[in-house]
Amino acid sequence: MTRNFETSEALNRLPEQFFAKLVKKVQSLANEGHDIINLGQGNPDQPTPQHIVDRLKQAADNPNYHKYSPFRGQPFLKEAVCDFYKREYNVDLDPETEVAILFGAKTGLVEISQCLLNNGDVALLPDPGYPDYLSGMALSHAKIETMPLTQEHDFLPDYGDIDAATLDKAKLMFLNYPNNPTAGVATPSFFDETVEIAKKHHICVVHDFAYGALGFDGEKPPSFLASEGAKDIGVEMYTLSKTFNMAGWRIAFAVGNPSVIESLNLIQDHMYVSIFGAIQEAAAHALQEPEEAIETIRETYEKRRDAFMTAIHAIGWKAEAPKGSFFAWLPIPNGFKSEEFADLLLEKAHVVVAPGNGFGEYGEGYIRVGLLTEESRLLEAVKRIEKLALF
Ligand SMILES: Cc1ncc(COP(=O)(O)O)c(C=O)c1O
Repeated sequence: MTRNFETSEALNRLPEQFFAKLVKKVQSLANEGHDIINLGQGNPDQPTPQHIVDRLKQAADNPNYHKYSPFRGQPFLKEAVCDFYKREYNVDLDPETEVAILFGAKTGLVEISQCLLNNGDVALLPDPGYPDYLSGMALSHAKIETMPLTQEHDFLPDYGDIDAATLDKAKLMFLNYPNNPTAGVATPSFFDETVEIAKKHHICVVHDFAYGALGFDGEKPPSFLASEGAKDIGVEMYTLSKTFNMAGWRIAFAVGNPSVIESLNLIQDHMYVSIFGAIQEAAAHALQEPEEAIETIRETYEKRRDAFMTAIHAIGWKAEAPKGSFFAWLPIPNGFKSEEFADLLLEKAHVVVAPGNGFGEYGEGYIRVGLLTEESRLLEAVKRIEKLALF
């Protein structure tokens, strides 16, 4: 493409979209008429629960919502967020000062770097990790220090491995549990340790709680904010995308430290005029009446996980069952690189998976499978892989 105008340095720094290449390959095989089983993405396949959709339809008729929404979000939604956090996590929040409404967590995760980081400032990022953290880093021209997540350490960063000088320099730390892509979960004691480290080194912690509702085997994933003192040094970002299958609606929120919440609200004052009021009403409704909806969605993934793991174990693929999220993080057979293995599954079995190295250096040796299609298709994928006799 010929460019008429030079793009800014900030834009030029944005990382290449690793998975764009994969999407192209998948598209060309699909165009050839192959039956592709796509387990490569993180897009919930089920619809939003009907009662939430109905509430949106009804709210769309309200002319109050046809005007600009209040800049910082509807007060009733912030109240609903606080009630949800009290009910689910026994965390007390002030709707005025401790809640920011976001256009999806992705937006908040990119904005926060612009709020808190200057050129050359250091941020600690998990490796492997959700690629969008890198976008915020690039825009603010921050320096990245990675925290390896390994199976030996339950996919939690080992703070003892980070030298004190790096911790002293770091201004921001991203964490994400249940984790994308490793499916690891955090414990309350890990979050307590995080609060201690962050306070000692004055680091702002951003806990990305996108998969907060998706814990298995009777274990509810803990909120970072439930740790004592967490609100003094961090925020949690919570999205409705996964908890209520509302990824297309673009609605999430950040909760926690009032000064960070104020910064997020401030940057948003300059970029947007909040979200369509009817969406905010339906979101408040979802948060107020979720028990059944949340449980049905969570159970669906747990059943898929059980069926999928039983099937892969039966073909001799050794891997631990995910404890949360809707991903399985699978070690690949010796001698393969992640990308090469993912290519093989795509070309020979027409099964799409995400190569682990796309999430960082420590993702090499793994692939990520999204449990985002019906059980019968997941089992069909395993059958096709079995035929390749790789295990
Ligand atoms: C770890 C993680 N954080 C954040 C998001 C983005 O969530 P949202 O849909 O609210 O932008 C995703 C989406 O895939 C994710 O996997």
